[in-house]
Amino acid sequence: MDKVIIIHKSNTGFTEKYANWIAEDLNCRAVSVEKISLSEVAQYETVVFGGGIHAGAINGIRFIKNNLSLLHNKKIIVFATGATAPIPEEIERFRTANIPTNANIEFFYFQSGLNYENMRGMDKMLMGLLKTFLKLKKNKSDVEQGTQNAIQSSYDCSNRIQIEPLINFVRQSNA
Ligand SMILES: Cc1cc2nc3c(=O)[nH]c(=O)nc-3n(C[C@H](O)[C@H](O)[C@H](O)COP(=O)(O)O)c2cc1C
Repeated sequence: MDKVIIIHKSNTGFTEKYANWIAEDLNCRAVSVEKISLSEVAQYETVVFGGGIHAGAINGIRFIKNNLSLLHNKKIIVFATGATAPIPEEIERFRTANIPTNANIEFFYFQSGLNYENMRGMDKMLMGLLKTFLKLKKNKSDVEQGTQNAIQSSYDCSNRIQIEPLINFVRQSNA
């Protein structure tokens, strides 16, 4: 049985970039969730799944949630990428909202950014609506003002250092 596989669901490329960095460090395969079958996943001991945060929810997390019984004998690690700064309270919020409590899943969060160039369809429309809403809103709170500033254009604050805790966790648990 092969040891580790990285599976990602990435709309604008950030999660895929992190998945490829993780795969390089762990010397294993990274693959899009659309391109792997459950029977293939069954061949691995450790499954690392990553998705971007969309309005608080991890993109594609249903792959893990819907297949918990098939994955029960594996080590499962989920990572999320998002525009939010990696503040412990926010990370805890993402964990509570997305990670099932009835499974032993380790969770990691990596800050990424926004990529309007790669954004498509509904995502682009939602960001446009949010921009307009915040622009028109009077008496904005500090958070709303900060969000308005942060979503004006593309930016990238992803960096490889952020994956270190996940890499160490996988190495320790497979030692
Ligand atoms: C429609 C939409 C909603 C988003 N909602 C959030 C959010 O609630 N919290 C957050 O931190 N980032 C949010 N983001 C930013 C994405 O999580 C971030 O760009 C992520 O890395 C995208 O991953 P991907 O490039 O792999 O698709 C949102 C982006 C879009 C397009």
